[in-house]
This record gives sequence, C-alpha cells and structure tokens, in this order.
Amino acid sequence: MAHPHDANRRHWDEVTALHRASAFYDVEGFLAGRCTVGPLEREALSPLLRRNLLHLQCHFGLDTLSLLRLGAARVTGVDFSGAAIAEARNLADRMKLSAWADFVEADVLDLDLGRRFDRVFTSHGAINWLSDLGAWGRAIARHLAPDGLFYMMEAHPVGLALDVDGAGRLYQRFGYFHEAAAQTLDGVPDYAEPDYVPKEPGLGWTWSLADIMAALEGAGLRVFEFREYPFAAWDALPGMARDADRYYWRRDPALGPATPLLFSLKARHDA
Ligand SMILES: C[S@@+](CC[C@H](N)C(=O)[O-])C[C@H]1O[C@@H](n2cnc3c(N)ncnc32)[C@H](O)[C@@H]1O
Repeated sequence: MAHPHDANRRHWDEVTALHRASAFYDVEGFLAGRCTVGPLEREALSPLLRRNLLHLQCHFGLDTLSLLRLGAARVTGVDFSGAAIAEARNLADRMKLSAWADFVEADVLDLDLGRRFDRVFTSHGAINWLSDLGAWGRAIARHLAPDGLFYMMEAHPVGLALDVDGAGRLYQRFGYFHEAAAQTLDGVPDYAEPDYVPKEPGLGWTWSLADIMAALEGAGLRVFEFREYPFAAWDALPGMARDADRYYWRRDPALGPATPLLFSLKARHDA
C-alpha cells in the first residue's frame, strides 16, 4: 500500500538537482568555504569539538558538512531522498571529508542506526513533511546520547498560517492546528527556484507548538529552552530581505506588525 511519504520522496528527488544548481543554495560559495548554518544555530550546537552529530532531513548535506567544518568529530546526515543523499556523498567526496561524514538514505520516522549521538539537529522546513510527529520524537530519543542535546530551528507555525492580502496586510490564511488529512502542495512554487512549480507536489502537515512539545515529551525528552524570532529562513512573506547571516526580515513597518516566523528549542533526555 502507498505510504503518504511516497509522494514527498518523489518531490524531493525531483527538486534536488534544481536546488543543487540554485543561487539560493549557492553550492560554489559553500565549496569555497561559506558556512550555511546561521549564527544562532552554530551557537546553540556549540561546542562541537569531539562531538558526533546526527542531522535529520539533511537534504543534500550542506548544513551537515558545514557542521563538520565547524569542528564536529563526525557527522551523519539522514534523508529519504536517494537523489539528495547521492549529492551529499558526492560533495563530501569532492571536499575530501567522506571519512568523517556518513549519509544515510532513510525515512526519519523509521530510523534506527543502532548508535547514539552527542547532538541531534534538524532545521528549516523539515517537520511539515512528516505524517507522524510521535514517531519523529521517538526517533530523536533513540539516537540521542544520555547527556546529548537535541536542537531544532524551524518555521514558526503561527508564521506558516499567515499570508499577505492584496493591500499588503497580514491575515491568517491557513489553520494553526494539526489536521489528519494532508494538504497537497499542488501548484506551490519551489522555495529555492520560485519560477519552477514541481511536477510532484508532495504532501504537508501542520504541527502546532503544542504538538511538537507533546511529541518530544512523549518520547521521554524534556524541553529546557524555547525561543521565537521575527525573521525567517526564506522569504516566506512578500517584502522580505535577506541579511548577511542568512535570515529574512520584514523590517518595513508599513508591512504590518512583527510576527513570529522562526522558533528554536533545546531538549535532552528527562533524567
Ligand atoms: C526543506 S529540506 C530541509 C532543508 C535542510 N534544513 C537543509 O539543510 O537544506 C527538507 C528535507 O527533508 C527531507 N524529508 C522529508 N520527509 C522526510 C522523511 N520522512 N524522512 C527523511 N527525510 C525527509 C527531504 O528529502 C528534504 O531533503
């Protein structure tokens, strides 16, 4: 029987080559030394020295390999797209980093690598592709070392519910709360190449902040830090400009009041 993630895998297999060639991901700049992980994430995950790190939904590995360059002892990136994992391995080979970087093709919900990590990390447009957040929480708990840190930085579900009307005003377009039925992303342009509408649209789910907390707590993890930010990881709304740190802002007051567009949290095993 078809799994709801099958359509998503086809979507990510389709867009990986497009992303590899896009200005948004700027792979040439990355190969020349650009770090793709923002300063907030770098600070939250530090120290990385002598730590091993698991990166969930790593796409084609830019953040994973950036974290290795920042000093992690060993990194493991997991993604269910065969195209993304092949490209991540190719980049690691090109950078002569393959001895310290493993890339695993797997669905994050069934992941069982049989080992634990000092850091488990996920970020920016990952959990909205998952049909079951309870299984996600359990996968994190299974792979986190007893004294390890789980850190995530994600699109804020309040920001994801908003859009801008014809007069430039923010309004709530989508529901905030989770619904079991997936939303088809038919006709939604690609975030990295907005002129391209994927042929394989994929399915998405909304997860509220309470759903995320419950998934982690249900897996035996304790959230000990939570932050919200008025900027995004991509130009989620009209009138956004990217800063030097890679975050996107709506600074013009005429565009309306500030709203949460990203959140981050840290969790560890509940002792
Ligand atoms: C928006 S990208 C994440 C971007 C990422 N933060 C980066 O470093 O570029 C979402 C990724 O999640 C992956 N993905 C979606 N659902 C997945 C699943 N169930 N298991 C594993 N990977 C998944 C996709 O293949 C894609 O590479």
